[in-house]
Amino acid sequence: MRMYDIIAKKRDGGVLTPQELEFTVNGFVAGEVPDYQMSALLMAIYLRGMTAAETAQLTEIMARSGDQVDLSAIEGVKVDKHSTGGVGDKTTLVITPIVAACGVRIAKMSGRGLGHTGGTVDKMESVPGTRTSIGREEFFAQVNRIGISVIGQSGNLAPADKKMYALRDVTATVGCIPLIASSIMSKKLAAGSDCILLDVKTGNGAFMKTSEESIELAKAMVDIGQRHGRRVAALITDMNTPLGHNIGNSLEVAESVAVLKGHGPADLTEVCYQLAANMLLLAGKGTLPECRAMAERAVASGAAFQKLKELFAAQGGDTRVLDDPSLFAPAKASRDVLAPRSGFLYATDTEKIGGASVLLGAGRLKKEDPIDFAAGIVLHKKAGDRVQAGEPLATLCADDEARFAAAEELFLDAMQFADQAPALPPLVLARVTVDGVERF
Ligand code: URA
Repeated sequence: MRMYDIIAKKRDGGVLTPQELEFTVNGFVAGEVPDYQMSALLMAIYLRGMTAAETAQLTEIMARSGDQVDLSAIEGVKVDKHSTGGVGDKTTLVITPIVAACGVRIAKMSGRGLGHTGGTVDKMESVPGTRTSIGREEFFAQVNRIGISVIGQSGNLAPADKKMYALRDVTATVGCIPLIASSIMSKKLAAGSDCILLDVKTGNGAFMKTSEESIELAKAMVDIGQRHGRRVAALITDMNTPLGHNIGNSLEVAESVAVLKGHGPADLTEVCYQLAANMLLLAGKGTLPECRAMAERAVASGAAFQKLKELFAAQGGDTRVLDDPSLFAPAKASRDVLAPRSGFLYATDTEKIGGASVLLGAGRLKKEDPIDFAAGIVLHKKAGDRVQAGEPLATLCADDEARFAAAEELFLDAMQFADQAPALPPLVLARVTVDGVERF
């Protein structure tokens, strides 16, 4: 078999065989297929696409390229969730304790922030003492004991994806549905859960800018899951505006606590209930309305907040900051951003807001950059709100006043004002399952 022929076949619109995909991916991981040939093939896939069967085979080969977590040592149904990434997206910290409090096991591996989007592992580490890297035995024992563990992704989970993603990133081949679907699902299949709920973000703060693209991506991922014997569903959720009011690591933990105590922002609370209900549905806990009611009861009874505390306590975290988030170390400096005019906040460029939080120190500009857990943005106004000139739109938090000028400029550039109120999209736009697409 020759790489040259495989590239030419895809270039001409052919369908690659499992043997050809295996030769390519395994050869690339082993260093036998050079970057330039892999880049040419990725571009051919970008331009020609892949069939559903081809995408599923590619995913399986990528999932098998490294560790495959066998969760059979954990009793019961295990449910995972994945978000394609957003700004202020702290749903994992809310819904995993809700679902665990309802008796469904969570053995979850999460990621760090990427670009303008945040990551669960960074948020968890903002709780002093929290360990996000624990051995497999301890991970399993914790899930068997308290029903939940959330840790960082093991270094050797789907290494083919890691190498392919790095190449896609520099060869303009990221935005391709079969490649994104296989990238995400290879990691989810390797992580071992029986059920996977996908939160596909859509809008100006997400990878997928339109709901139709997001639905196509969701359909591809649901199909891959089904072909591999996993129960998978996806919600398409809005990311034209940040979720909730807080952006930044300890700020987002505090807001997650507020939702679990029953007084979180309405948008975040609603998205979390819908995600949690769909996870419970996948786990076979009842009909969707029954699962929603179960999730709401877990919050109202305090069981879900208790589960969050158990999760952090088991991983060494100081739960005093969960009982009282005002105990989080505050940012050294803060500054209000004032509305330049009166009217309505008509729309926000969410990617720029995420970028402003990174400039404040809440995310990384380079992979090795440290994170300032207290840095970030508290939004006082969101798209659709009426504003008066001079009123605070947001408070910026950082360790150094010098960070404010650039962050404020980018933040204000993200704000669009108008005299009339905008029509806002629904928080959840569609649900994609093996049975089809339901649009809301
Ligand atoms: N997230 C991933 O893990 N992979 C992609 O290709 C895009 C988003």
